[in-house]
Amino acid sequence: METIFTELESNVRSYCRSFPKVFGKAKMCEMYDEDGQRYLDFFSGAGALNYGHNNPYIKDSLMNYLETDGILHALDMFTEAKRTFLDIFKEYVLNPKGYDYKVMFCGPTGTNSVEAAVKLARKVKGRETIFAFSGAFHGMTLGSLSLTSNIELRKGAGIPLNNVVFMPFPYGFNASFDTIGYIENILNDDHSGIEKPAAIIVETIQAEGGVVVASSDWLKRLRDMCDQHDILLICDEIQVGCGRTGTFFSFERAGIVPDLVTLSKSISGLGLPMSLLLFKSEYDIWNPGEHNGTFRGNQLAFVCGSAALEYMYKEDLLNAVKIKEEFLVNFIEHEILSSYPLLKYRGKGLIYGIDFSRVPEKDVCFKVARKCFERGLIIERAGRNDSVLKILPPLVITLAELKEGLSKVKESIDEVFCDNF
Ligand SMILES: Cc1ncc(COP(=O)(O)O)c(C=O)c1O
Repeated sequence: METIFTELESNVRSYCRSFPKVFGKAKMCEMYDEDGQRYLDFFSGAGALNYGHNNPYIKDSLMNYLETDGILHALDMFTEAKRTFLDIFKEYVLNPKGYDYKVMFCGPTGTNSVEAAVKLARKVKGRETIFAFSGAFHGMTLGSLSLTSNIELRKGAGIPLNNVVFMPFPYGFNASFDTIGYIENILNDDHSGIEKPAAIIVETIQAEGGVVVASSDWLKRLRDMCDQHDILLICDEIQVGCGRTGTFFSFERAGIVPDLVTLSKSISGLGLPMSLLLFKSEYDIWNPGEHNGTFRGNQLAFVCGSAALEYMYKEDLLNAVKIKEEFLVNFIEHEILSSYPLLKYRGKGLIYGIDFSRVPEKDVCFKVARKCFERGLIIERAGRNDSVLKILPPLVITLAELKEGLSKVKESIDEVFCDNF
């Protein structure tokens, strides 16, 4: 059936293909389509809605701001909203851990922060090459796409994507293969044919890559290697930051401090566009206006982002994530995987993936996700051949909702396996 969407909206549209309904309202972990049908959200706007839809605490701050004619657009001028956000970010995020980061507001979306990160790293070190990892996703603008490993997506650039060399992420190799040792070897070998990079960019958990978790030990070794070779470490926290893994930054579990950190998605609290880059103050060598842009620092996002940080600590959300993770892991292990030995799972905090790649039949994960949607559960796929079902609920989900969603996943797997095998 043709609709205004299919008639007018470009073929590039994507998520609406997985969830082909017209949505009208949403509250915390629930979305409603125009017919009033309820859906439980296990997708969280790809990580932009950690605090849920229309979280009342955050929304109230937005409503108050709008009612008092707070400023809505100001380029990067000083505003009260920005001052409050910076104060709160310093108080809740930077000071408790003693981070010496400068904050740079980038264009509105995640990829803008990645672009700024590699631009600054190249400027600081005076080198062109960046190392990224196989399985990485860092965004779709040219610089970020050059750091993204998916071959099909890269083709979309239409030009060569240069100055990035992909290194092996610890996934898919024989367990004895030492990926850090391999990179180290390249760096020490003056005949490796690979130039020393300005920076290495890493996701501690490759979310789009199929929820692949780097171990703390691996991350520590990566950090040490960067130090030894005078290479900057960029941590892309866009999807797994903001409390997703049970700490504010996902790299905290490894006890490492990256030189640059990209943040977006849930940093704005309510799903509004905002993106920022953190970097150690010694690297603040930008000239004024050298990385300009009209929409850097969305004022409404400052207001909601401030409220979100207050909410996170007031509600002790980070500890709650750990409790919910325990429930989730228990359910996956005992209620799902016990019946399907070919399936694997992995994750951290409230990002988990169920991996169908060992099931020989094609499209099983796709079929499971579709059945989930028919049951009123919004859930996406990720990874090689989209073979990983990605469980990414808002952090505010209740245990009852978590159980409800996971039961729908189980029923959908049961149905697909019963139909197909
Ligand atoms: C780790 C990571 N980096 C960068 C991006 C790009 O963010 P955006 O889509 O907002 O440009 C994403 C988006 O999913 C992401 O997951």
